Amino acid sequence: MPEQSPKQRIEKLTKQINELRYRYHVLDDPAVTDEIYDSLTQELVALEVKYPQLKLKNTPTQRVGGEPLDKFEKVAHQNRMLSLNDAFDKQQVRDWQERIQKILPDQKYDYFCELKFDGLAISLRYDKGELKIAATRGDGFTGENVTENIKTVQSVPLSIDIKTPVEIRGEVVMPKDEWKKLNARQEKEGKQLYANTRNAAAGSIRQLDPKITASRNLQYYAYDIITDLGLETHKEVHKKLEELGFRPIKQQKYCKTIDEVFEFYDEVGKLRDKLPFGIDGIVVSVNQAELLKRLGVVGKAPRGMVAFKFPPEQVTTIVEDVLFQVGRTGKITPVAALRPVFVGGTTVSRATLHNEDEIKRLDLKIGDTVVIQRAGDVIPDVVQVLPKLRNGKEKKIVMPRVCPVCKEKLERRAAGKEESVDLFCVNLDCPTKNLRAMEHFVSAFDIYTVGPKILERFKEEGLISDVVDLFSLKVEDIQSLERFGDKSAENIVNSIQGAKKIQLPKFIYALGIPNVGEETAFDLSQRFGSVEAVMDASKEELNSIPNIGGVVTESIFDWFNLKRNKDLVQKLIKVGIKIENVKIKATPLSGKSVVVTGTLDSMSREEAKAAVREAGGDWVSSVSKNTDYVVVGANPGSKYDKAQKLGVKILEEKEFIKLLGR
Ligand code: IVH
Repeated sequence: MPEQSPKQRIEKLTKQINELRYRYHVLDDPAVTDEIYDSLTQELVALEVKYPQLKLKNTPTQRVGGEPLDKFEKVAHQNRMLSLNDAFDKQQVRDWQERIQKILPDQKYDYFCELKFDGLAISLRYDKGELKIAATRGDGFTGENVTENIKTVQSVPLSIDIKTPVEIRGEVVMPKDEWKKLNARQEKEGKQLYANTRNAAAGSIRQLDPKITASRNLQYYAYDIITDLGLETHKEVHKKLEELGFRPIKQQKYCKTIDEVFEFYDEVGKLRDKLPFGIDGIVVSVNQAELLKRLGVVGKAPRGMVAFKFPPEQVTTIVEDVLFQVGRTGKITPVAALRPVFVGGTTVSRATLHNEDEIKRLDLKIGDTVVIQRAGDVIPDVVQVLPKLRNGKEKKIVMPRVCPVCKEKLERRAAGKEESVDLFCVNLDCPTKNLRAMEHFVSAFDIYTVGPKILERFKEEGLISDVVDLFSLKVEDIQSLERFGDKSAENIVNSIQGAKKIQLPKFIYALGIPNVGEETAFDLSQRFGSVEAVMDASKEELNSIPNIGGVVTESIFDWFNLKRNKDLVQKLIKVGIKIENVKIKATPLSGKSVVVTGTLDSMSREEAKAAVREAGGDWVSSVSKNTDYVVVGANPGSKYDKAQKLGVKILEEKEFIKLLGR
């Protein structure tokens, strides 16, 4: 028999093992025993060691995990990774449907329903048919490059049959039985246990050593193709995903009516506990791709999709005490200290009570038996008190008059703000407030090595008094503290120094300006391009940004008006923070105020409003001499006459569309 050349043998083995892997890990239908699979793999490994130059790009052997990394690189997403709006009952789903109906009054559409996997969202980028980059969601704009780890997930195809660039989205999950096995191993080795399958999946992907990830038996379920491949419905998207080699998902349904959607929801609800992986609801999408696109995005979520969640778990327990926590903005939050209970996959011993009004609404006393509820990742809520279980020894909850930390008198408003239901510590030097602000800063800067405990310690030891000091920390400073080894001191300093380069939106977010979350920080960056420009912005300029209302404007303006805050920004820059500024995209509508009157042919009012705002314009409802443009559609109202009288520039729909750059 003629000998196969090593090249030929490697090619054949690679192909054969990949096919077997597909049968085993994607179709759950093994074609051979594990022994045969292992034996073929060993032969391939031996050949690859001997002839490394012949190793193929899609070799199954790379799935065992390569060299450990020092840290995860950042990856900018080509397309923002959005999230979904939640609905918790049928009425909320109907409301969603009605909103869509209003926007698309004459359109026929149907729905596609699928499982909402409880795992970690991962974007996969393929080019020339090969998996190039796998990234976590991160803040939706930038994620972490976890390619080496994802390659160890057997159900992720390393190559697909499309040569042009393609982006796939899906969820990495840990099967329930794997999670149990993993926790048993962790316990035996005295290591940390994972509270639920989602934490376990996330923890397994965020391992710097891909070999650990490889040992965790994760699975990948794809749910979207972001690249436009000309597929007309979401149903077709799923068919395509299967053809490309992703795991088929049995529980999916094409629905003509909302009632059919509800049927699917009820079916899945019954099935939930029997499924091998965790889900927390279903995802309902408008099936037609074109309509889904037209429905656009509201905030962080596509309007044409909704997550129909299963009811959060509820349990009863006892409120043993009420504590008052000081937040980063000085807000005092009452927190119930609970007799520990297991709910939604974790043991909890705290529940938030939000504010004094909430305590009154619940009529809560210390010692009460309560129902608590936990939805997703958030801190649980107390939803109900069971007064019949009282024994008369319950104690009234008294709101504090002074800050529990700095003892300064509390106020009913944040500095300079309107009266509120919340209490605030307005002392600019309150140590806990400052600590919380630092925690927020460090987490926004992704300095993972410095958690709240370490920050507190550094502060207590006098190593730092603000976030600026972090960047001057030396290895020796930390080494000299008790319980800090050389290695960990080095890691800390390296990660702080490594975080000095930062994108503008993250930097702004990190400052912890009240009411400025990641979204607003992003909007500010897009409009102003640099932190200096944001600092110098007038109230009018701030307020003209879509999604930034009066309260947020005041908040930003007041924050930068304080000298200490301006100084903080300057000091951060001086200590070496390099902010990557944003190029402002000027459009003909940037900063212009636009009024629309009459009906437009090509878009609804809602769409026109979104388009104006997206182009940086200001959507206003009445005409004045300060209005820049009045767009006139069919059957215009009195605004048209007023515009003519005031001599405001009038645009026809065509001209308007042109200015929008469409
Ligand atoms: S669709 C538009 N489909 O849920 C962004 N998401 O709450 C949503 N998820 O970040 C993508 N299963 O991590 C979609 N079948 C599914 C999903 C799913 C789980 C996750 C995903 C997303 C989050 C949004």
